[in-house]
Amino acid sequence: MKRPPSGGLSRRSFLHGGVAVAGGLLLPPLRVPSPAHATPAPPVELRPGKGLASLLGKGLPRTEIWGYGGQVPGPVLRLRQGETLSATLVNDLPQPTTVHWHGLRIDNKMDGVAKLTQAAVAPGQRFHYRFTVPDAGTFWYHPHNRSWDQMARGLYGLLIVEERTPPQVDRDLAFAIDDWYLKSDASFDADSLGQLGEWAHGGRTGNVLTVNGRPEARLSVARFERLRLRLANTANARILQLRLQGGEAWTIAVDGQPVAQPRRLRNGHLILPPAGRVDLMLDITGTPGSQVVIAEVSDIRLPLIRFDIDRKAAKRAGPRQDSMKLPPNPIPEPDLANALTFTLDMTGGAMGGMRSAIYKGREMDLRELAAKHNLIWAFNGVAGMPDKPFFSVRKGQTVVVKMLNNTAWPHAMHFHGHHVRVLKHIRETRAGRRELAVTKDWRDSVLLERGEEMQVAFVADNPGKWMLHCHMLEHQAGGMMTWFEVIA
Ligand code: C2O
Ligand code: CU
Repeated sequence: MKRPPSGGLSRRSFLHGGVAVAGGLLLPPLRVPSPAHATPAPPVELRPGKGLASLLGKGLPRTEIWGYGGQVPGPVLRLRQGETLSATLVNDLPQPTTVHWHGLRIDNKMDGVAKLTQAAVAPGQRFHYRFTVPDAGTFWYHPHNRSWDQMARGLYGLLIVEERTPPQVDRDLAFAIDDWYLKSDASFDADSLGQLGEWAHGGRTGNVLTVNGRPEARLSVARFERLRLRLANTANARILQLRLQGGEAWTIAVDGQPVAQPRRLRNGHLILPPAGRVDLMLDITGTPGSQVVIAEVSDIRLPLIRFDIDRKAAKRAGPRQDSMKLPPNPIPEPDLANALTFTLDMTGGAMGGMRSAIYKGREMDLRELAAKHNLIWAFNGVAGMPDKPFFSVRKGQTVVVKMLNNTAWPHAMHFHGHHVRVLKHIRETRAGRRELAVTKDWRDSVLLERGEEMQVAFVADNPGKWMLHCHMLEHQAGGMMTWFEVIA
């Protein structure tokens, strides 16, 4: 790969790109796709380290966070579909770390999973990542070593891959929504990390929500503007329940992958599980002076994103008529007639009735697992990372994974290196088993509520060792992880 001249590097520098000031709020760099010609993306340096962030807003005490470049979120990395990203991790943290590129179907050696695909990078050391991105869409990056600790402190950033011919929009805006547990003096509550009680329940949820590292994002917009909103849930465990008011939006992509047909958000309701992303098209059609608000309602009703519709001239005479449809990414269709099916029995946690599980080849009772190893969850009777893969298949094999949530808690099951399609989603109700409607979307994470069963399918087309785990990071650390192998 050619090194771009330094002038080009600073122009397209992801790290210190233009800072947009909107309504008195500093937002991290957000760029509208430029009509630049296809070039290799300029190299990036990611330096996770300590920093200070105004999580509660201007004028209030700041919080010591861990972030890429000392900022939260880390820089928005933007590249084009088919480009090669070259990123050097330089670890300024007091702990070993890695970078995982969540949702990107890339070379397994670059997947960033400590102990599985690489050794964790020690403090002061560096690691060079280099991979080509096959899919356009909204993705993100974060550590895959002690994720429950490092991500709770702010280590994450968005990674946006632009379509070769992006849809026509007036603005392309990205928002990372996070959940923090802060003390009353705004300091990060480190004492609450690693508490087994929370690990055995719904995971560590906090008391402060932020969007792009601030309490709220507020922007002024013109009537009849069309916005593309990229929303990401970067929280450890909170399932975001979002409500859009004052506008109409269409879902155009889920977990980075375009939906077959854009669909209107029903009643403005949107559920975003941990690690989930959704791309929305929002047409500003409200009256001048009114607002479009996206609020989070899972416990405290909080407006997170606000668009003030300008009283000045409208952007155009009426809403844009351009198509919202995104070009599909090159994901192979599963061959269900020749699929191999594997069953994953999810057990453990509070009120789960799990008595024992296997850890490092030895059966242990739950008390010992919890006390000695902080493990309280299991997949197929094994707590923590098993030595042997959950399954091993040849490249090109269609796989169906049947997941049974035999716990009292929801789980956001994440597949590495592949996107999956839900075939069946069954809910256990008092009246019996009920099959829920499913879409044809491709997802990298799927949410199973307590007692639910779900079957997903995908073509195992990416050779290597891939993790499958709950993305509620305390559940992952507490035992809900395994891996599968695709043999070239
Ligand atoms: Cu977002 Cu295994 O990761
Ligand atoms: Cu879970």
